[in-house]
Amino acid sequence: MRPPDSHPSRRAFLGATGGVAAAGLTAGCEAHSAPSDKHGATASPAAPVPATGRHQAGITLPQPAQPNLLAVVADVRDGVAVGPLLAELGRSVGTLTSGTDARLLGLPPGDLTVTIGVGPRLVRTVDPSLPGAADLPPFPRERITPQARGGDLLIQICAGDALVVPIVATALLDQAGDRLRERWRQSGGRGPNVPVAKGLSAPRNLLGFVDGIVGPHTTADQQRHLWLAGPAPVAGGTLAVLRRMELQLPRFAALSVTEQEAVMGRRRADGAPLSGGTIASDPELGAKTPDGRYLVPADAHVRRANANVVGAGLMLRRSYSIAEPAAGLLFASFQNDLRTFTSTLTHMGSSDALLQFTTTTASATFLMLPGFDRQNPLGSTLFG
Ligand code: HEM
Repeated sequence: MRPPDSHPSRRAFLGATGGVAAAGLTAGCEAHSAPSDKHGATASPAAPVPATGRHQAGITLPQPAQPNLLAVVADVRDGVAVGPLLAELGRSVGTLTSGTDARLLGLPPGDLTVTIGVGPRLVRTVDPSLPGAADLPPFPRERITPQARGGDLLIQICAGDALVVPIVATALLDQAGDRLRERWRQSGGRGPNVPVAKGLSAPRNLLGFVDGIVGPHTTADQQRHLWLAGPAPVAGGTLAVLRRMELQLPRFAALSVTEQEAVMGRRRADGAPLSGGTIASDPELGAKTPDGRYLVPADAHVRRANANVVGAGLMLRRSYSIAEPAAGLLFASFQNDLRTFTSTLTHMGSSDALLQFTTTTASATFLMLPGFDRQNPLGSTLFG
């Protein structure tokens, strides 16, 4: 794997793209290394992640992602003016993340990010040919009520301080009032991060494996696979897939460690591929034992989901583990082509050993809106 180059020196980056974005990157780097206060008793809040810029925060920044998440999926009631609603929410995201909003009740926002996306129905009202206009098709191993499939609006709230998350959700939903009708919500958490490469670390999931290693982590890969380059109304945005997956933990835990590793294709303890190397190494999918068996088994998750094997692009996975309504994973991926997700899951199909341990209970896709600032309100490129 190439080392991520998303944290260039401040000077080099300022030269290339200007100060606002550089400030965002710098804050993202510092977010996970916030020092304790001088008494050493309590940690100071993590450094802020600017809400404005070319892209919304909460997708690549901060890295690593904050430990607490709440995702709220809602419908926009008929007749509501979407443009003004999004612009209003964007202004609130600005005041909440900068800590100038009385609705925070005095809590420092720290590294709070609020990331907003619109569902296919709303995108189609603008232009049915835009990226984000297509619904996700149904897939095998789903048990999804109509309420938990699709939705018009995603509000993804992430923060280091677990208390900030529901306070911010309440503020935003109260502000939207009866313009929104909530469909489902999901909170999630991420444990300690394991270093992967320079500028990249990832947590373990409920199966005990490090999750979030392979993805578009370099600036070049993010341009190619993550951010939408156009058309103009969506440029700087990306497509999100959100799937709540229940995990059959007792059945997985009953396997030996070797069997668990065969399901994933990586070592549980250190994240290295079963073909060897370190956590940062790409799996060598052709490598075999002397008696001719694949080191990374034919049905291992990292083989079935591998972008080259699938013939798809890279997706940025930013999943959170969940305890309720059942133990599992709120799988979240961001990519600039929905086919990256659909081809991967189709290829995993019935032959991915991991999928036998999962049931998907909620599913939705969203166009994550391009970044915004004072002059260009959230959503204005689409609904302005
Ligand atoms: C509960 C369900 C899932 C769990 C627990 C899980 C866990 C993991 C783990 C531990 C890895 C290996 C480390 C890494 O590269 O991050 C991995 C890799 C990956 N997963 Fe999943 N995953 C799940 C579902 C999915 C789904 C639904 C997709 C997409 C359709 C997906 C796509 C990928 C991809 C693209 C990789 C990288 C493969 C590679 O190139 O090595 N995963 N996953």
